[in-house]
Amino acid sequence: MPEETLRITDNRTGKAYELPISQGTVRAIDLRQIKTDSSDFGLMTYDPAFLNTASCQSSITFIDGDRGILRYRGYSIDELAEKCNFLEVAYLLLFGELPAPGELKEWEHNITHHTMIHENLKKFMEGFRFDAHPMGMFVSSVAALSTFYPEARDIKSQANRRMQVMRLIGKVPTIAAYAYRHSLGLPYVYPDNSLTYAANFMNMLWKMTEAKYDANPVLARALEILFILHADHEQNCSTNTMRCVGSAHSDPYLSVAAAASALAGPLHGGANEEVLRMLDEIGDAKNIPSFIDKVKRGECKLMGFGHRVYKNYDPRAKIIKQTAEAVFKVTGFNPKLETAIALEQVALKDEYFVARKLYPNVDFYSGIIYQAMGFTPDIFTVLFAIPRTVGWLAQWNELVEDPEQKIARPRQIYTGHALRKCEEANTAAHTQAAKG
Ligand code: MLT
Repeated sequence: MPEETLRITDNRTGKAYELPISQGTVRAIDLRQIKTDSSDFGLMTYDPAFLNTASCQSSITFIDGDRGILRYRGYSIDELAEKCNFLEVAYLLLFGELPAPGELKEWEHNITHHTMIHENLKKFMEGFRFDAHPMGMFVSSVAALSTFYPEARDIKSQANRRMQVMRLIGKVPTIAAYAYRHSLGLPYVYPDNSLTYAANFMNMLWKMTEAKYDANPVLARALEILFILHADHEQNCSTNTMRCVGSAHSDPYLSVAAAASALAGPLHGGANEEVLRMLDEIGDAKNIPSFIDKVKRGECKLMGFGHRVYKNYDPRAKIIKQTAEAVFKVTGFNPKLETAIALEQVALKDEYFVARKLYPNVDFYSGIIYQAMGFTPDIFTVLFAIPRTVGWLAQWNELVEDPEQKIARPRQIYTGHALRKCEEANTAAHTQAAKG
């Protein structure tokens, strides 16, 4: 008998059951034995939006939402953001350990040598309308990569998976930059393998007629930090999508495209765009009290505050706030930052927000930094998708190697009609019900 158990009495039958508890969890399938009689399907759990369901065992990212802790493979996010570059963190997330110097050199070489995309994919991207949203272009182009690498379907081979992982991490900044340039009507810029991951991305975004693009080192480092902070966040909506699509053994390009589609939603990756809109609406810091009153009356939302898992300050928001200060020293003062800081101070002291544990989240400051760096808001979600591709792939690898995982297939509680007959469809009662 396991040491920790849960004793359940089914009051419908009077029967008692003893379920094992492991890692603070009972297995939902253990409830299936609880039946009223042999024809009963057995007890299920009902958990809309998976508020209290662990769908996997994972050793990648640890979050303690009450204490505001985020760790990748056991390392605190603060230390990684301070001491590592993005590709080191990507290696850590994917392979479990920080790379030794030789491993890092080889890894960086492999990624930077997979940054080019096929000319046909470039042509494919040229076909988008001039005003296509960059996220739509990103999602479709990542999915199109699947047609260039049909061998990616062999997901059982570890070596093959590693190759697709390198390709994807190398190519997503190129696709993102091409989508951005396309939306501005600018010619595409080919990757430069001699630059770091972030500096090369900036080169592809902003190079004009100069022979060599010189990324500002403070801004390139800020972008690396933002990439590190966004790389993984355990079973969020897009990662859950990656795992769900991956569980059907779709290839990683299609699975990443599906995950990116989930990220495109305003409730997920699009939230920082909404924060900027809110700050624009508030305008001056003197308008904050009346805005807060409107929030309390339920007339609008305080964007960038509160998080599904953090009931404390989002640890990423703290780091982003510090990064913002470094960025503004280069780009100059931004009045939105002043409004944001004033809004944060008011909200953190207000009993209404304190009682609801509404603290700033990762989106609160990231949009302001991106805008100061010269990005337009419609590219923000693409900037999130670049580093999150690493997290999606790390989670996908873990899923593929997990012997307990099967194709994802939740159950439902059916609330529709019992068996009906077509001949009865047009009876008076039916027509009346349809009219309401
Ligand atoms: C994320 O980083 O994915 C977001 O904070 C959303 C989440 O974790 O639920």
